[in-house]
Amino acid sequence: FHVDWDLITAEKAGFDHFMLKEIYEQPKAYRDTMRGRISEDGRSVVLPELNMTPEILRGINRVHIVACGTAMHAGLVGKTIIEQLARIPVETDVASEYRYRSPIITPDTLVIVVSQSGETADTLAALREAQRCGARVLAITNVVGSSVAREADDVIITLAGPEIAVASTKAYTSQLIAFYLFGLYWAQTLGTKTADEVAHILAAMQSLPEQVEKILAQAETVKAVAEEISKHSNLFFIGRGLDYAVALEGSLKLKEISYIHSEAYAAGELKHGTLALIEDGIPVIALMTQEELYEKTLSNIKEVKARGAHVLGIINEGHEAEAAKSVDHQFAIPRTLTLLTPALSVVPLQLLSYYASLALGHDVDKPRNLAKSVTVE
Ligand code: G6P
Repeated sequence: FHVDWDLITAEKAGFDHFMLKEIYEQPKAYRDTMRGRISEDGRSVVLPELNMTPEILRGINRVHIVACGTAMHAGLVGKTIIEQLARIPVETDVASEYRYRSPIITPDTLVIVVSQSGETADTLAALREAQRCGARVLAITNVVGSSVAREADDVIITLAGPEIAVASTKAYTSQLIAFYLFGLYWAQTLGTKTADEVAHILAAMQSLPEQVEKILAQAETVKAVAEEISKHSNLFFIGRGLDYAVALEGSLKLKEISYIHSEAYAAGELKHGTLALIEDGIPVIALMTQEELYEKTLSNIKEVKARGAHVLGIINEGHEAEAAKSVDHQFAIPRTLTLLTPALSVVPLQLLSYYASLALGHDVDKPRNLAKSVTVE
C-alpha cells in the first residue's frame, strides 16, 4: 500500500487539515443536498428517490431515529424537526442501546437510521431488527451503495461529498438538511403546514449556505477563545431546546479532537447538580439562539457567572449589546428561523474544537483511539 503524500496535500486543497476543509465545504454541502429536492417555484419539497407512497407516509404514526455518535446528534435535531413539522411523535435512540431495550416497533413505525458511512455495525443491526419487526426503514446516509443504503426501504443521500476527518462536520450538517427536507415533505403530505409556511421555511433554508459563509468569514474570532479554552481541562456547554441538541454535538466534537473533558447540559438542569462543579474561571459555552427561551437561558447564565464561570455566548445577531452585559465573549450567528438555527450554531462550535485541538498540538484529523467508521459492535 503506497501513500502518496503529495496527493493528500492536494486533496486538502490548501487547508492544513481535512477537518478545516470539510468545515469550509459546508455551504456547498448544503446546496448540493438541497439541489433538485426543492420545486422550481421554491414552494415544495420533491423527493423522487423515496419508494414510499404518500399513502404509506400518511399511515405512519410514530418514528424511531437510530444512529451513533454525531449522526445520533443529528437525529436529536431530527426529532424536533419531524415533531414540529409533521406532528408525529419521535424517539431518538443510540443504536447500541436500541435493540436491547425491546423497542415497540409496529408496522406503522418508521425507523430512520442515520449514518455518514452507512457501515456502522450497531446502526446496521438496528435497521435489520426494525425490518424484522415489520417496520419500514428510511436511511439518511452519505454513501451510495453502502450496506445501510442497500438494505433500507427508502434512502435519502446526503451530498456532503467524502468526509475524511474522523470528527464529522459537513456530514452532520447535511444530515440536518436531509431532516428539514423530509420533515417538510411529510408536512406537505399531511397538510400539517400550509403551502405558504412550507415555502417560507424553504426560502430560509436556501439562505443557509450564504449565512454559513458569513460565519466562516469570522473564524478568526473563534480562534482566540479556543486558545483560551485549550488551557482548561473541564468545561460545560449549556442550552435549551434545539440549543441543547447542538450543545451535545459541540461537546462531543471538543472531546473527540482536543481530549478536553466537557459536558453538555440542558441549561435548566444545571441547578439539579452540575452547578456544584462551577468554580472560578471555568469556561461555559452557552447557546442562546432559541428566541422564546432566551430569557430563561440568560438567567441560567447569570447563575454560572455568579459562581465565576467564563462564558462564551452563541447568540443571534441583534442581541450583541444586550448579551454583552451577561457574557464574556460572544459569537453572533445570522438570523434564521428558530427551527433552522442548528444548521448555523454548530459551525462556530466546530471551529472552536478545531482551533482548541490545534492549539494543543493534537492530530486533528486522526484523534487517538477513534475510527472514522466503526464496523464492530
Ligand atoms: C464513529 C465516528 C463518528 C461518527 C460515528 C457514526 O464514531 O468517529 O464521527 O459520528 O462513528 O458513524 P456513521 O458513519 O454511522 O455516521
